[in-house]
Amino acid sequence: MTTQLTYAQYAAETAELIPKNAFMTTAHSGKINTMTIGWGSVGIIWRKPIFTALVRQSRFTKELVEKSGEFTITLPLADMKEALALCGTKSGRDMDKIAAANLKLADGQAVATPIIAAPGLQLECKVVYKQTMLPENLDANYQANCYADGDYHTMYFGEIVAAYKTE
Ligand SMILES: Cc1cc2nc3c(=O)[nH]c(=O)nc-3n(C[C@H](O)[C@H](O)[C@H](O)COP(=O)(O)O)c2cc1C
Repeated sequence: MTTQLTYAQYAAETAELIPKNAFMTTAHSGKINTMTIGWGSVGIIWRKPIFTALVRQSRFTKELVEKSGEFTITLPLADMKEALALCGTKSGRDMDKIAAANLKLADGQAVATPIIAAPGLQLECKVVYKQTMLPENLDANYQANCYADGDYHTMYFGEIVAAYKTE
């Protein structure tokens, strides 16, 4: 069963759930992949509800989102620690993480990318803007703490075109 959510509902729930980590799922040309994210935000930009995801250059996820221009976010409402650990340490370049983590997929409502079918908050997003970080614009402490290896994030601003809860 799915329950549609208002902006106020999913913005508040996302703020609570994102520190517990989430799945960012991408798909292109029959290849489906998901990775664990710990950073991200929901807000209003360009008069639209937007989820901003930060993806480092090295991620296979980056290759897929660049090609598809969309992604889904699943914020678990059940214990999925094992799957989150696997999807946050292995790359879809090397293996089928969906199968390895025994994750089930379901069709998206408004995008071609599937969602992770589990109890959770589901956000379906279409990329409307992207920007790779410019090192010279970054606070020096953040630079040292988060980017010593030079693997900067690209920020993907995704318009949230569907938001609902799955059981
Ligand atoms: C708790 C946690 C949070 C993470 N958050 C992010 C994130 O927000 N952005 C990112 O690019 N990588 C993040 N990662 C790392 C990726 O999930 C990891 O590198 C993954 O193997 C990439 O998979 P891929 O190559 O299939 O895209 C996180 C990892 C963990 C364990």
